[in-house]
Formats: sequence, C-alpha cells, structure tokens
Amino acid sequence: MSTFDAAPVALIVHAHPEPHSFSTAQMTTAARTLREAGYRVDVLDLYAEGWAPVLDRQEFAPVVGHFKPQAEQMRAVKDGSLDTTVGEHLDRLLAADLLVLSFPMWWFSLPAILKGWIDRVFVMGGVFGGDHGLFDDAALAGKRAMLLLTTGGSSESFRPGGALGPMNEFLFHIHRGMLEFVGYQVLDPVVTYGPAHMTDQERTAALDTVRESVALVAADLPTAVR
Ligand SMILES: Cc1cc2nc3c(=O)[nH]c(=O)nc-3n(C[C@H](O)[C@H](O)[C@H](O)COP(=O)(O)O)c2cc1C
Repeated sequence: MSTFDAAPVALIVHAHPEPHSFSTAQMTTAARTLREAGYRVDVLDLYAEGWAPVLDRQEFAPVVGHFKPQAEQMRAVKDGSLDTTVGEHLDRLLAADLLVLSFPMWWFSLPAILKGWIDRVFVMGGVFGGDHGLFDDAALAGKRAMLLLTTGGSSESFRPGGALGPMNEFLFHIHRGMLEFVGYQVLDPVVTYGPAHMTDQERTAALDTVRESVALVAADLPTAVR
C-alpha cells in the first residue's frame, strides 16, 4: 500500500447554494486544514452537483404493490441495483474515516438538500440494518463525524436560557438520530454564529477559529466547546 493509500480520508458534504457564502469559505478552510494535516479530502458539493434530494419510487427497480422505501433500499443493496449516483455517494461515504457535514442552519436543522442526501444515501442495508445493526453495530462504527455550520442567531441566543435555546438541543436529532444511529462517534460541532453581522476582520478571525478547531479534529484531539 502506498503512503497515499494509507492517508485517512475525510468526506465533506457541503450544502450551501452560494459559492461566496461564509459557509462555503468555512468548508474550504476545513478542507485545506485537513489536507495540510495529511488527510485525503473528498468534497461533495451538493448544490454544485445538482443533487436531487427527494427519495421517491422512481429511483428503484419497478415496485409491485405497496412502496416501502427502506425495503426497496435493502433489496437494491442486495441485488446491486442501487441508483448509480446513490451508489457512488454511498461508496464515498463508506471510504471516509471522517465525515463533515457543512451547512447553514435552516429552520434549526439541515437544509433540505442535505437532509435528502441523508434520506437517500444512508441506505438501509448499506449503513445500518440488514447485515449491520444500529448504533455501535452499524456500518460506520469506529469512524468520526462532525457538523460544521453557520447560524443567523447570535451565540448568546443559543446558550442555555438564551432567546432560542441551547445549540446542542437543536443538533440532537442530527447527532443521535442520523450520525450515531449509523455508528459514528460524534465530535463537537464547529459553529460560527451570525457571520452576516460580522466585519471583514471578524470573519477572518472566525475562519482562523475554524482552522484551529479542524486542526484539533485532524490531530484526533477534542475541540474546545464554544
Ligand atoms: C430558509 C432559512 C432558514 C433559516 N433558519 C435559521 C434558523 O433556524 N436559525 C438560525 O440561527 N438561522 C437561520 N437562518 C439564517 C442562516 O442560518 C444564516 O443566514 C446563515 O447560516 C449565514 O451563513 P451564510 O452567510 O454562509 O449563508 C435561516 C436562513 C434561511 C435561508
């Protein structure tokens, strides 16, 4: 095996429609930092690729009778008939030691394009269920995942007792229900609060903080809780 093959792999799945957004700058900073730390970085830019987020019956072989999406996913994994793009993305997911989901917080959750990526690519029979179990018995056990996000709200508003409520409570359904569910060890999220209200200088400092946090992740050290 060559040195290149031995490098850990990070898959960054990015979901922002604007290439000049702060969120995209944050993703680019994370990718560069991971590369500098020796990672092979695979960036999946969902808007740029025109990812179709809607899980529907058309992506499966003709379904006779009642359509049960997860049963069809299991069948497609078994007989090798997964939708080509879904199969390619699943291969990229399984190849990664570290998954980074990069997005702006929309309605206290993921943008629909990214939620739809989870719907279609976190395939039953491929990452959990079937030959795999759930949580520590799922296919991605032993791998790490983290959220890299921006918000409109301020950091004060996301503190316990703040106007919105604690950030970790909003992220629980992603951390527990999506990432831990398929086996990942979930790392502390890296969050930039309210980049739209920052000066250029503050944005530069915020990107420096992202770089420092991601460098800690690359070194397998805990990131500071912010
Ligand atoms: C559809 C939509 C929903 C949003 N929902 C939230 C939200 O729930 N909480 C929040 O803090 N900001 C929310 N925002 C604001 C974005 O999170 C914010 O504009 C973005 O993270 C800033 O980063 P950017 O400049 O890279 O887009 C929302 C924005 C949009 C477009």
